[in-house]
Amino acid sequence: MKPQRVLALVHKGLEPPDEKVDKTTAQTAEWRMEYDVVSTLKVLGHEVRVIGVHDDLTPIRSTMDEFKPTITFNLMEAFDDVVVFDQNVVSYLELLKVPYTGCNPRGMTLSRDKALAKKLMAYHRIPVPDFLVVPLNARPTLPKRLQFPLIVKSLTYESSTGISQASVVANEEQLNKRVQFIHETIMTPAIVEEFIDGRELYVGVMGNDRLQTFPVWEMSFAKMPDNNWKIATERVKWSVKYQKKHGIDTALAGLTEDQSARVQHVAKRVYRALDLSGYARIDLRMKDNGEMFVIEANPNPQLAQGEDFAESAKRAGVSYAKLIERIINLGLQWQPSRMA
Ligand SMILES: Nc1ncnc2c1ncn2[C@@H]1O[C@H](COP(=O)(O)OP(=O)(O)O)[C@@H](O)[C@H]1O
Ligand SMILES: [Mg+2]
Repeated sequence: MKPQRVLALVHKGLEPPDEKVDKTTAQTAEWRMEYDVVSTLKVLGHEVRVIGVHDDLTPIRSTMDEFKPTITFNLMEAFDDVVVFDQNVVSYLELLKVPYTGCNPRGMTLSRDKALAKKLMAYHRIPVPDFLVVPLNARPTLPKRLQFPLIVKSLTYESSTGISQASVVANEEQLNKRVQFIHETIMTPAIVEEFIDGRELYVGVMGNDRLQTFPVWEMSFAKMPDNNWKIATERVKWSVKYQKKHGIDTALAGLTEDQSARVQHVAKRVYRALDLSGYARIDLRMKDNGEMFVIEANPNPQLAQGEDFAESAKRAGVSYAKLIERIINLGLQWQPSRMA
């Protein structure tokens, strides 16, 4: 591939160091994903400029004029700490007519709202848990079709923000309390979903037109006590100590060939139904009887080496360097006007 001038957009404070760092630092630093991507781009022979963005678009504009990037590598997940503004930054890149990596703004909007995404999937007959949205300042009124246990989440937040064992509720009192908790601490509407008791599966999908799926990954909870819900809470996702204690690990899922193929097929349908582009990870849960439900779609998932997306790509024979190169290629090929 022809060397590109890549403008890497990262969060202010997560700019990776220019020099090579030791392995432990590279694996534990807050900027490890940024470091992995930027250092790999350099190894691939691209010219890279990094800018840290918080609440100001001016540096993006001035770097466009001065550095003239041929593509922007988008590693932003929020703007001014507002997570739903990440798609607006991508819209800005479209207005500047510079190619970018990852998902288009429309796909980001459609998948961000967990209720809107489920409505679209339901239209396409993709199995999703039944749900109810509780707007800010309202109390839940459960329709008869929703039976306990249920799970209460923020309608728009990610990374398991606000998800703990108490998110799964077994009666009205717990439900009201948890909805109030989401309203008051996360300050977004709440979504109350049918609780899917089953295995937790993740599938990486990549592409704009022709889609490739990676092997199905599974989160296992080997040492989790039986009276705990086996779900990806905030602690499960982020506390290494908690992961060790409860035997939490993600690896290739032990599914039959037929089950894997079904999961991958559904993941591609989700990707299309939500107008995603670039790369994404689809989260599903599968009951003991093999019945599966899509939990959510994550455009621009965590890209650090060793994390699920890169690991499952590696399993499919796509090395980290190849993965980054493909992401660049898909970004160069994407035509924003397609979504017009
Ligand atoms: N309907 C559900 N049934 C069972 N578990 C769920 C359900 N929804 C979410 N979970 C659990 O909570 C975790 C986080 O929920 P998710 O909707 O993926 O939010 P986030 O965007 O924070 O990752 C999931 O990975 C899963 O373990
Ligand atoms: Mg998730």
